[in-house]
Amino acid sequence: MRASPFLQRYGIVGPLFVNDVSSRMEVSMRTRIAVIGAGMVGGTCAQRLAERGYADVVLLDIVEGLARGKALDIQESLPVAGSDAKVIGTSSYDDVRGAAVVVVTSGIARKPGMTREDLVMTNAKVVRDVCENVARMAPDSIIVMVTNPLDAMVQLAQQVTGMDRTRVIGQSGVLDSARLRTFIAEELNVSVSSVSAYILGGHGNTMVALPRLSSVGGVPLVDLLPRERIAALVDRAVNGGAEVVQLLKTGSAFYAPAASAVSMVDAIVLDKKEILPCAIRLEGEYGIRGTVVGVPVKLGAEGVEQVLQLELTPEEQDALLKSAAAVRETVAIMGI
Ligand code: LAC
Repeated sequence: MRASPFLQRYGIVGPLFVNDVSSRMEVSMRTRIAVIGAGMVGGTCAQRLAERGYADVVLLDIVEGLARGKALDIQESLPVAGSDAKVIGTSSYDDVRGAAVVVVTSGIARKPGMTREDLVMTNAKVVRDVCENVARMAPDSIIVMVTNPLDAMVQLAQQVTGMDRTRVIGQSGVLDSARLRTFIAEELNVSVSSVSAYILGGHGNTMVALPRLSSVGGVPLVDLLPRERIAALVDRAVNGGAEVVQLLKTGSAFYAPAASAVSMVDAIVLDKKEILPCAIRLEGEYGIRGTVVGVPVKLGAEGVEQVLQLELTPEEQDALLKSAAAVRETVAIMGI
C-alpha cells in the first residue's frame, strides 16, 4: 500500500502500513508454535496460545476453511485480548516449517460408551501422516501429543519421527491431575492453587493417582480427608473424561485438555523447568523399558530435561506396571 500524502507529512510511511500479515510471517523472527488439528481442542489451544502473545501460532487442518476460519476469528479477537501474535490458518505443512513446538490434536474424539482405546486404528493413521510431515518440516521441534489413545499415540509419534524421546511427549497427567485438584479444592473449599496432586501412568482407566503425595497448603491430603472420600474423588478424576463425554454426547472434553497442553507449551517456550506429569517413553525408569506412560518430568526449552524418579510404594509401583501393560496392549493393536 502506498502511503498517502497525509501520512507522509506526519512521517508515518513505509512498512508500518504494509498490511500483509502472511508476508510479515515470512520474515518474522518470532517463535512459531504449530497446532495440528483445528477441532475443539486444537482451536482452544490456538486461542490460548495466541492470547499469551509470546509466539505466533499456525493452526493447521486438512479442512482448510476450518483452520483459516478459526485462525481469522482468533486473530480478530487479539486487539481486544491485548496480544500481537500472528495467527495463520492453513492446510499446508510449509507453514509448520521451523516451528519450535508442535501440538498434535488431530483425530476423532470419543462418543458416549467409547473408550479412548476404541479410537486407536482411526487415529493411528491420522497421527502417522501428521508426524511424517512434522518430521520433514520441523525436525528440531518438540511435539506435544494430545490425540487419544494418548500414550499409544506418543509411542507411534516417537517411532515415526525418529526424534529423541525427550522431544516427543504427551499431555495427560496435567489434565488428570487438574481434574483431581478441582475436586479436592471443591471438597475442602480452598483455592485450586493451594492443592497439588499427582496422577501418573497411562491416560486410561489404569491411571495411577498418588494421594500419598498430594497436599493442600503443604499438608498431606491423607491427613485431611478420610480414605473413602479420597477414593471417591480419585475415582471421579479417573473417569473425568467419560463424565464430560456423557454430558456433551457429541464429543469429548476440550477446555481442560487444551489448557493442560498449553501449560506444557508454556514450560517449554519459557524454559520454566517445571515439574509436570507428562507421557514419555521410559528407558528403564520405574522398571519400565520401551513403553510410554505418564511420569513426573522437568520440562524446559529442551523438552524433557529430566525424568524424575519418585519412591513408590510396592502397591503404587505395581499399579504403574499394570498401567504400562495396558498401554502395551493398545500399542500392540497398531502393530508397531
Ligand atoms: C479426556 C480426553 C480428552 O480425558 O482424553 O477428556
